[in-house]
Amino acid sequence: MHESSRENMRVFIEKYVRGGTRLLDVGSREVDGQSGSSYRGLLAGMDVEYTGCDMDPGQNVDVVLRRPYAWSELPAGSFDYVVSGQMLEHAEFPWLTLLEIHRVLRPGGICCVIAPSAGFMHNYPLDCYRYYPDGMVALAHTAHLQVLEAYTNWSYEGYPWLDPVWKDTVLIARKEKKLLRNWAAGVKRAAYHAVSPRSLGPVSRTSLNSSGPGCPPPSESRPAPSSDEAQQRDLFRRLTAGKPLNDLERFFGEEEHLPIYKCLNYFDVYDRYFSRYRGSPVTILEIGVAGGGSLQMWKNYFGPLSRVVGVDIDPECKKREEAGIEIFIGDQRDRDFWRALKAAVPRVDILLDDGGHTMEQQAVAFEEMFPHLAPDGLYLCEDLHTSYRPGYGGGYLRPGTFVERAKALVDSLNAWHSETPALRPDVYTRSIRGLHFYDGIVVVEKGSRTGPPDILRI
Ligand SMILES: C[S@@+](CC[C@H](N)C(=O)[O-])C[C@H]1O[C@@H](n2cnc3c(N)ncnc32)[C@H](O)[C@@H]1O
Repeated sequence: MHESSRENMRVFIEKYVRGGTRLLDVGSREVDGQSGSSYRGLLAGMDVEYTGCDMDPGQNVDVVLRRPYAWSELPAGSFDYVVSGQMLEHAEFPWLTLLEIHRVLRPGGICCVIAPSAGFMHNYPLDCYRYYPDGMVALAHTAHLQVLEAYTNWSYEGYPWLDPVWKDTVLIARKEKKLLRNWAAGVKRAAYHAVSPRSLGPVSRTSLNSSGPGCPPPSESRPAPSSDEAQQRDLFRRLTAGKPLNDLERFFGEEEHLPIYKCLNYFDVYDRYFSRYRGSPVTILEIGVAGGGSLQMWKNYFGPLSRVVGVDIDPECKKREEAGIEIFIGDQRDRDFWRALKAAVPRVDILLDDGGHTMEQQAVAFEEMFPHLAPDGLYLCEDLHTSYRPGYGGGYLRPGTFVERAKALVDSLNAWHSETPALRPDVYTRSIRGLHFYDGIVVVEKGSRTGPPDILRI
């Protein structure tokens, strides 16, 4: 589950959920590699009885639903809260889902439904809809739920946890009164008549809670992310008002290009370390191509002599190749892939890891590619916030996160001065000359060193 969805749910829980209650999570299964990322953990210590249900059995599923729109396993009126995240976009008939939510809620009970307003196609096995607040309100009304809140995470203002890929839409609604007599049956009958009965069958069995971590996972077909570009450009102008823009910011905010996903504070970091390479035959390799715009940005910034290389697990990204931009398709966790890449790209001056952002992915890329980097090269790992997020294998002070590894490099850097056998110079002591930490990004400056610095007194 992506982090913004958890944050939206955290806000809901803080505001509405009280103890001594029962809560149902619809579409609760944790898919591979996302252990511990469900909403269950948000209720820790709250005296709320959590039930996870899903169409598929698996981790974090207490009740397996046999039918997508008739949850006969769950009695009517049996929950104080119903929550659901990243499920509704996969449901063919979401109005029927809302009717079931209404049915299992007790009178006065509250639901919180989160679904994306944007993002690429991700078939689990279907991907049917994106949601705006008006659509959520309409669905709530179909089920006679009283809308308390309906909003979309449009910008970082108000929603600092915004995920720019998915831009979650949130519906919070209350079951106030009983449905009109036969209302639900009427809506269901209308739906059955409007569609082929076959599509109500097993095909709509779906692993419900299934969108990937914050960065787009691979997908069979990935159109360019839907863009509210004008809005984003306007926000960029407001956030950078009065700031002298560097060339990367100017390209990002003012020029035409394919989509780029970046935290605004990164541009100054890039410019500070990258400017010395401009106009030279530098090779920059970025893990994580997505929309392809960042590769265009590097080409524009470093100039025609540069070699710009992208790596992505998603074969669709190969389509972003253009003059001066090469793209290799592979998994950054795959050491064989890196072996082949190193043969094809014998020199890399700058490596920027903006790929899948899990701890394993970041570790393998660093282990494989840092030794391959030019002796005076730069290794950047960005979106380090995942080092603090369990959904990515992170956690504060958790061994093995990229942040913890980078902290350990500080010791290696200074190991010549150690007086304990526990810290001795290693390969990193000899090959790193600087480590620079910023919010969300670390820069490792490679540099050959043979011993501690000379000390002079003049
Ligand atoms: C945050 S996006 C990249 C954004 C892009 N660099 C930009 O600045 O616009 C992350 C990308 O990493 C890719 N990715 C995810 N897991 C990966 C893996 N294991 N190996 C390689 N690429 C991966 C995704 O397909 C996605 O395109």
